[in-house]
Amino acid sequence: MFNFNYYTPTRVIFGKETENQTGQLIKKAGGSRVLIHFGGQSAIRSGLIDRIKKSLDDAGIWHTELGGVVPNPRMEKVQEGIALGKDSRIDFILAVGGGSVIDSAKAIAYGLAEPDLDVWELFAHTRTAKACLPVASVLTIAAAGSEMSNSCVITNEKTGEKRSYNDDLARPVFAVMNPELTMTLPDYQTQSGCVDIMMHTMERYFTNGGNMDLTDGIAEALLCTVIQCAKILHADPADYEARAEVMWASSLSHNGLTGCGNDGGDFSCHMLEHEMGGMFDVTHGAALAAIWPSWARYVCKDCLPRFVKYAINVMKVEPGSTDEETALKGIEAMEDFYRQINMPTNMKELGIEPTEEQILEMTRSCAQAAGGKKGSAKVLYPEDMAAIYRMAL
Ligand code: NZQ
Ligand code: ZN
Repeated sequence: MFNFNYYTPTRVIFGKETENQTGQLIKKAGGSRVLIHFGGQSAIRSGLIDRIKKSLDDAGIWHTELGGVVPNPRMEKVQEGIALGKDSRIDFILAVGGGSVIDSAKAIAYGLAEPDLDVWELFAHTRTAKACLPVASVLTIAAAGSEMSNSCVITNEKTGEKRSYNDDLARPVFAVMNPELTMTLPDYQTQSGCVDIMMHTMERYFTNGGNMDLTDGIAEALLCTVIQCAKILHADPADYEARAEVMWASSLSHNGLTGCGNDGGDFSCHMLEHEMGGMFDVTHGAALAAIWPSWARYVCKDCLPRFVKYAINVMKVEPGSTDEETALKGIEAMEDFYRQINMPTNMKELGIEPTEEQILEMTRSCAQAAGGKKGSAKVLYPEDMAAIYRMAL
């Protein structure tokens, strides 16, 4: 078991109608001039933005708003938010939406806290942040886990680079989680979210560096719960209990809990996916589903005990005659699960067919972002990354 440093400062307010407490929560957190940040139309259509504004008005909090964040959020919107935030002397950013909106809010918060510096430098990893304005969220989709994570993922639309910057400075002050708000999601987004939630735990589970039984137990319970609830929601999107289980899993899966005691995780699938998102603007969770089976087959011999444990404890397969056979049965069972919830198992099913030239470009960019190599289940070098992309075609 490795030493660890577990830090989760985010207050969670969970359950029905909790969004009505938002104004009071911001007041308590010291916010007085608030930027309400949101995405396309969903939060306006549902009336959520109006309810949030009323809650802030009732608490006597000044606010302005900026919508239009797109999935795989862009630098252009971040710059717009920073400019608006400077003009309006914003001291608190409230994200109303999912991972894309929260990440855009975090990037604006970094930009406003150090207004003379270029915020993209954080994502290019040429400097680290010294400050960040407080950020909080009202979550509308269970997926990215950004509501409690230290991570922020932004796409530079000029270069096609999708890059993450991780820093505890950006861990949100609070997260309002009303599972009912997620009931308007299209099934594709619900299921992509379930895949992403599982992947945040699986990235931490499939490692060769330091594991602890308690963490494994929490991870396996979380994965089994999400598998079960994803199937329930595929049949009945209005099932509140399943929505609630998945929403809580989204936060626990990416706030560090399912990685305590290991080497920090593998995270190769996320690195590989970020290139797919940057180049083809695909949905993050669905793209993870498209790459995982190929990654798993490519690396499983190098991390066999973990794949066997996963096959038996999570996918509930009968052990085969060898460990390798058991591991492969587990991977096949996972693919069956993806098919049951209409998620892709390769890039063609995802709707993209990269050329060899594009594969080499994704490989180059992935290796560059990773500093040459990535992974713990198996350390991947550029030739491995390219091989996995080709397997996933
Ligand atoms: O823009 P609107 O109209 O709101 O539509 C959104 C969007 O099209 C829609 N949506 C959200 N809530 C809804 C809803 N539609 C109907 N009803 C609702 N209640 O769903 C679509 C997807 O939203 P998005 O915020 O993009 O989803 P998600 O939470 O999956 O976020 C994905 C982004 O997060 C990044 C991903 O790379 C991607 O850019 N990630 C961030 C992480 C982090 N910061 O910790 C970790 C993750 O690994 C991930 O990389
Ligand atoms: Zn993810």
